[in-house]
Amino acid sequence: MSHGIRFDRVSVSYGGRGAKPVLDAFDLTVRPGEVMALLGPSGSGKTTALRAVAGFVRPESGRILIGDRDVTALPPHRRGIGMVVQQYALFPHLNVRDNVAFGLRAHKVGKDRIPGRVAEALDMTGMSAYATRHPRELSGGQQQRVAIARALAIRPGVLLFDEPLSALDAQLRSGMLAELGSLHRDLPEVSMLYVTHDQVEALTLADRIAVMDKARLQDCGTPQELYRRPANAFTAAFVGNANLLPVTVQEHGSGVSFAGTALKVAVGDAAGGAAATLCVRPHLVGLGEGPNALRGTVADVQWRGATHRLLVDVGGHRIMADLRELREAPSPGRSVTLHFAPEDAVLLPAGVDDDGRR
Ligand SMILES: Nc1ncnc2c1ncn2[C@@H]1O[C@H](COP(=O)(O)OP(=O)(O)OP(=O)(O)O)[C@@H](O)[C@H]1O
Ligand SMILES: [Mg+2]
Repeated sequence: MSHGIRFDRVSVSYGGRGAKPVLDAFDLTVRPGEVMALLGPSGSGKTTALRAVAGFVRPESGRILIGDRDVTALPPHRRGIGMVVQQYALFPHLNVRDNVAFGLRAHKVGKDRIPGRVAEALDMTGMSAYATRHPRELSGGQQQRVAIARALAIRPGVLLFDEPLSALDAQLRSGMLAELGSLHRDLPEVSMLYVTHDQVEALTLADRIAVMDKARLQDCGTPQELYRRPANAFTAAFVGNANLLPVTVQEHGSGVSFAGTALKVAVGDAAGGAAATLCVRPHLVGLGEGPNALRGTVADVQWRGATHRLLVDVGGHRIMADLRELREAPSPGRSVTLHFAPEDAVLLPAGVDDDGRR
């Protein structure tokens, strides 16, 4: 049976009523079998959202549904959820097998069924050979595999991850990321909600990404949608790199003006004279003459292996251009011309106000 997760206008504030909410009328639907990444800066409410699904935080209003069951009032062990957090949270005095079995007992799984379930979960995470070791005898990556096995053993319909890789070093992290991807392929019916502030993890693993800021959902879509068509400047800057240019929409929908230069871009139904933000991804900016040419002065050149990043000052604004196959990079202080194709720019609302609303 496949279960999705639904946040239905969930509000949480730790100080009780009247305190500033940490989740503010939060709405989000994770489809059955989907991997949803919850991406956002520190303090945006990601862990709180996850803990509300797990049942460790009680919303002051709104509902949480798993499948079509309203679980808002259910205790954690009756929600059919597996959870994996950053700090492994294994019992140091129990060996691997007993750590995994512990969760099954808490979930009231019959004694005779426990050994089979433990073996199955250890097998799925490649930890069968370590069943009798204690956590202190395992590497960080192995400990996290045990924590994942413990979450899987209860055969959850929903798996929650809270920055599960952030305690691991970079190389191990990318290996574990690939393992989590294959775990999802082995368990296509399990819905996963994966909290991270690492956009690479979110882009790699997730079917869709929910972007949070200031207790609210800012945007939600596939990685490609968020990258190509971000809903606002916050998402544009948070998912990938972005040039965010302050522009004014020209009358008659003919484009925008930026630092005194007219640029041809699609403005949709934006009103003439309105302030807006133009998002142009750095790898879509070219060097030399072309459509939407911008003249400026090179401020810095950063060599990044496959690309050079040029930082160019144009009318008091700094523009990033990531250039491939640049034989000779212009040196700082030189005048250059940058350009971008009209279809590579996205016009966004002027900014995000204090409230975090669009
Ligand atoms: N138990 C608590 N009591 C009071 N305030 C809390 C509690 N837990 C979290 N907060 C506050 O709620 C806000 C959101 O916290 P939360 O842990 O959900 O953020 P996060 O997005 O997971 O951040 P991070 O990326 O740093 O883990 C923060 O301002 C935090 O200080
Ligand atoms: Mg957190």
